[in-house]
Formats: sequence, C-alpha cells, structure tokens
Amino acid sequence: MILCDNGLFTLHTKHTTYQMKANEYGVLLHTYYGPRVHDGDLSYLIRYIDRSFAPNPEEAGGSRLFSLDVMPQEYSSCGMGDYRLPSLELELPNGSRSASPRYKSFRVERGKYALEGLPAFRGAAEDETLVIILEDAAAQTDIELYYGVLEDYDVITRAVKVINRGSETVKLRQAASLCLDFQREDLDLITFDGKHVLERCPNRAPLVPGVRSVGSVRGTSSHQHNPFVILCRHDTSEDHGLCFGAMLLYSGNFEAAVERAQFDDVRLVLGIHPHHFCWPLAPGESFTTPEAALCCSKQGFSVLSHRLHRCIRERLLQNPWEKLPNRVLVNNWEATEFTFDAERLMQIAGSAAPMGIGLFVMDDGWFGARNSDTAGLGDWTVNSDKLPGGLESLVPRIKALGMDFGIWIEPEMVNEDSALYRAHPDWAFQIPGRPKVRGRQQLVLDFSRREVRDYIYQALKAVLSSADISYVKWDMNRSLATVWSAALPPEQQGEVYHRYVLGLYDMLDQMRRDFPQVLIEGCSGGGGRFDAGMLYYTPQIWCSDNTDAIDRLRIQYGTSFCYPVCTMGAHVSAVPNAQTGRSVPIETRGVVAMNGTFGYEMDLDQTTEEEKEIIRRQTAFFKEHCGLIQQGDYYRLSDPFQDAPYTAWEQVSQDRREALASVVFGMTHGAPPFLSLRFKGLDPELCYRVNGEGCFPGDVLMEAGWPLPLPWGDYQALQIYLSAI
Ligand code: GLA
Repeated sequence: MILCDNGLFTLHTKHTTYQMKANEYGVLLHTYYGPRVHDGDLSYLIRYIDRSFAPNPEEAGGSRLFSLDVMPQEYSSCGMGDYRLPSLELELPNGSRSASPRYKSFRVERGKYALEGLPAFRGAAEDETLVIILEDAAAQTDIELYYGVLEDYDVITRAVKVINRGSETVKLRQAASLCLDFQREDLDLITFDGKHVLERCPNRAPLVPGVRSVGSVRGTSSHQHNPFVILCRHDTSEDHGLCFGAMLLYSGNFEAAVERAQFDDVRLVLGIHPHHFCWPLAPGESFTTPEAALCCSKQGFSVLSHRLHRCIRERLLQNPWEKLPNRVLVNNWEATEFTFDAERLMQIAGSAAPMGIGLFVMDDGWFGARNSDTAGLGDWTVNSDKLPGGLESLVPRIKALGMDFGIWIEPEMVNEDSALYRAHPDWAFQIPGRPKVRGRQQLVLDFSRREVRDYIYQALKAVLSSADISYVKWDMNRSLATVWSAALPPEQQGEVYHRYVLGLYDMLDQMRRDFPQVLIEGCSGGGGRFDAGMLYYTPQIWCSDNTDAIDRLRIQYGTSFCYPVCTMGAHVSAVPNAQTGRSVPIETRGVVAMNGTFGYEMDLDQTTEEEKEIIRRQTAFFKEHCGLIQQGDYYRLSDPFQDAPYTAWEQVSQDRREALASVVFGMTHGAPPFLSLRFKGLDPELCYRVNGEGCFPGDVLMEAGWPLPLPWGDYQALQIYLSAI
C-alpha cells in the first residue's frame, strides 16, 4: 500500500513499513524502515540540531539547525555538505563533481515498473509503484526514484533513473540503486564472502566507526563477495530479532558500502561499483540503475530467508521446474574432463538412465579444437573427431535412453588458439600497447559490441537448433581485466564494464526467447556469478566447483540466507573429492546434493552394485520429495561454521503438513553425546508420522525433539521425513 500525503510517502507491506518525507527545503529525508507500524508522520524522529562542522545549505538562510550531514537521507547527495557515503555523483561540463537532488514531484502507478534490458522482479496486478522525481537544478537533471511494493512478500524493490533535461552533457560518475539510512547504533553487518571453491561464507561483525565496503571490480559479481548483505541487531538470531536484507539484481561490478557515521547513524549504499564507471548523458538521455530489493523481518533470519526465497521463486525465476520434470542430471565433467568421445558419453548416460537419472549434460570439450583448456573457445561447432555425426547423431541416442540432453557453453570467452581469435583479435578486451592478461589461458570477448554478440549467438543458435536440447550450462571462467573497447571513443570507456553486463543480459534474454523450452543453468567457475541478476535468466546456478559434501555444507548454508534451494546447483561427485581429497559416504553426498538442484557428476559406470542401488534410492527419494525440498520454507537448524557435532537443516511445506530434516555429522569421537534434533516450523496442533511411523504432535517434535542415532564413522548423514496424519 502506498500513501502519499503532502510530501510524506509511506509504503506498507504486510509486515513492514517504509517512510520518507520531503522537508521544507525539498530534501527527501528517510524517516523509517522496519516492522509495520501505524500510519503517521515519523519525521518527528529527525532532529534539527546545530552540530559543529556540519555545514548548512544556503536555503536554510541563517539557520544552523539544518545540515545534510546529520540527517537521514533517502538518496544521498555529493559534495554538498553531507560527508557520508554519496549515492549520486554528477560531473558537469565545468568539471565540478557533486549532486544535490531536491524533491520535485511524484506519481503512483498500478503494477510494478519494469526495467528495459535489466533483470527485475516481475510485477503482478496487485503491486504498486511509487516514483518520486527529484531534480538537480544546477545539473538540469531529474533523478527518478522507483519503489516497487510487493506487499504480500514484504519486499520493496528500488531502482533509479537519471535523466538529462538540460542542453549539455552530464557525466554520471556514480548512481547507486539504493541508499538506506538508519538512526540506530545497534547494528551488525553480515556479508557473504569467499573465493573460488569456497563461496558465500557469512561474516558477521558489529559496525564500527567508518566504512566497511564489499564489492567486485572483476566484471562479475564474483566468488569473493556477494551482492547481498544483511544488517541486523546485535542480538538477532535465526528465530529472533530485527534484520534487513538488501540485494542487488546485478552480475557485474558492484559495491555494498556501509558507514557508521559520527553520531552512530548508519548508511547503506548499494549499486554499480563507481570504480571505472563513468557514463556521459547527452541532452535527453537517461541512465537506469540495476534493481535493488529490500526485505525486513523482526523474527530473525529464518523469516527473512522465507520471504526472500518466496519472492525469488515466484517473482524472479522463470518456472524452471515445468521444463524438466525429471531433471536429476548426470554431468560428465568430473568423470572425463576433456577426454571423451560419443561412446564414452553413451557409457555414462547408459549407466545413469536405469538409476532414475533423466538428464544427461555434456560438459566442456565437445567443440572446436577443445582438447584442453588452452584452445577452442569461440569456435562453437561440434568436434567431429569426438562426436562423429554431431549432435544430430548423439542426441537421439541419449533420448532413446529416456533422457533429456544438455550442453555446456562459455559464450563470453575466446582462446587465442581459435579460429575466432585469429579472424577477430580486436573482439577480445585488450588495452592497446599493453600486454594481454590471460585467465585460464583465455581472453574475454567484448560483449558490449553487438556484432561480437551477434556472431557468437548465431553460432550457438545453430548448435541449439541442431538437436533436441533441453538444458544449457552457461559458464564463465575468468575475471575481466584490460577492459577497453575498440568500438567506443575515449570519453565512453567508463561505460564498458556496464555495457558488458547489458550485452550479457541481452544475449541471455535472446536465448530465452528463442528457446523457451531450454533450462539455462548459470556457472562461473562454480559460484563466481551467483546473484539475483543472473537468476532472472538462469533459474539455477552451479553453486561451487567444490563438490566436497562437507565444504558444501558451508557454501550452501551461506547461500541459503538469500537464495532458495531450487537455485543451488548441487551434485554428488566421486571420492576422494577432487578439491579436498576427502572421502565422504555416498549417502551423505546424496543428502547434501539434495539440498539443491540434485544430480551426479561422476563416472556412474565405475560405481559398485551397492552404490548403484543407493543412487536408485536417492533419485527416487528426491523425485518424491522435490516439491517439498525446493518449495518448502527453509530452516537452518545449525551453523556449520561453528564447531557443532552436526549440521542440520529442514524444509517445511507451505501447509505445514510435511517436513524433511537432514542431518550431517562431523568427525566421530569415542563415547559421543546424546543429541536430539528440535524441528522448527511445524504445526503444534498436528500429529506427524516420523519416517512413516508413530504419531508425534508438532509441539513435541519442536520442543522436546527427536533423538539422533549415535554416529558410527565420520560424516554420516540421515534424513527424517515427517507427514501429518
Ligand atoms: C568450470 C565449471 C566446471 C566445468 C569446467 C569446464 O570450471 O565450473 O563445472 O564446467 O569449467 O571447463
């Protein structure tokens, strides 16, 4: 619900309220964001006090009581006496760099706004949009703040459009998607950080004076930091306390910066990273930022995750499940790497089909001269030495096994050892006069250029049209460097990083439109581009190149704060694990991979009869329960970063009639303690069968719990399935 009253703007969702007010000088002040409260003007919270070294804008006349530096702003200025984090920076023709947005007007629209060329939560009839138009008079520029109110999800989306209304070019040096000020001193910041093969590990710390900033200047959202952060009270836990989640729907350079300022007030600014960003706006031109989304819970992180997950599942992902009902997959990568031919693939697929696996994915190595990672990228034609007769021959053979067929691609890349590079060396990012910077022996194609994208897309389209293909794994295996586009003049080089992302989105969108039946899975050396922007196009993303089940507990735990289980690519792989050398029982590997999209990435032909039987049981169990696993409310029952004896999580169906708890023990020690698992989210009034037996009231299972067996051997796992009677 949107209420507008004389410069006061109140947005209500089911359980949250957001408010801002334009003051007498036209400064849009932020008054409140948090749990839902009664209507009313909360601007009484803003104090007009003379503070030393807090400058006063000219409009205030002789008054020293008004200073931007001490008041919560809705979209912060730059260079005008607020020394905290700016949201917007405009460079005028005279070289000045500042921004001074002032309230001009507003409009309310039915439904939710859409953003051209950018991912965004989809709107529905019941949504509303508030647009507040600010103006920077000196820059002759309008700044439109968009708010999408997704009432039922407790999510507020935001985006900003900057429009040059003047007669001279204005350079945009920074344009954040979101600025959020808090007048509270009790906040922790949680960021999700890591590296290749250990992504999205939560790091929580109280805010201390100064700025803490995470982000990426790698051209992708990165393994190192995720464009999702949480601010919460010091005492917030899974089940209690106030917390705020903020995500950016963007897959390129981003920055999430949080400042605890001098009076213990806090500002979060989230958006495209200002590093190497400069976007000249000619008269009449506009720039739209990526979308950001906010969510708040006063009942701890579980409820925050439930709200975000539901919103992502229902309003961001494009129905992946309808496309592939039997999508337990097998991928040949860890089994074969580059060394395979059609017969070897048929061998793996042939042993997978009777185990209930419905999708065969051919990974890297099927095209051009791709026999190692030093050659072939860019040449998207089938290698007929490996696959005689091409996909036209292979795919029907796979289909005859009752399986769907999927294929790996890496469209954004080129090897120097490729026909494409030999023909078009200037299509790869390189700075003239500087040496190349290679990553995995490959260069990055300049996707800001339409002709480059068109060429790659036409080649891929021919491949995807040549056979019955149901799934594509879209990979991206290096960070960008030497970013300079041969197609743009010097004054537009600051656009290239963002244009690259826009080009990527454009091609993904094209592929989705041309091949609506194809499920696209994102990947970037595992989880190097795991963000809500990619999820809009690729409803699942390979979570990590690390398939070690014990490490995956951490990676999937961190990922789950924002992203639902159905988005997390997770497979069972062979032991000893290729990343860690650890051996974990196959039952446990199955339990962990089922907390995701579920599949196998190993040589199934080499498994024993006993393992085959276990795999058959796993695929049957997953298919029976995948609705619950992927759509249920997700509860983290323990934190794998703590030295706990086990890691556990639970899914509860929306009607609370079913639940599945999964438990993975750590290393075993002599004389282990008696441990019980306490369920969450059940209906206290319902009675549940536990693994098909008995009758246990929901309150008993939640308060008294369920005794866990004593583990025998390291890394054992179990699943407990509850169904209401
Ligand atoms: C990346 C992916 C892997 C695999 C290889 C192929 O590392 O994350 O899953 O596809 O590329 O080269």
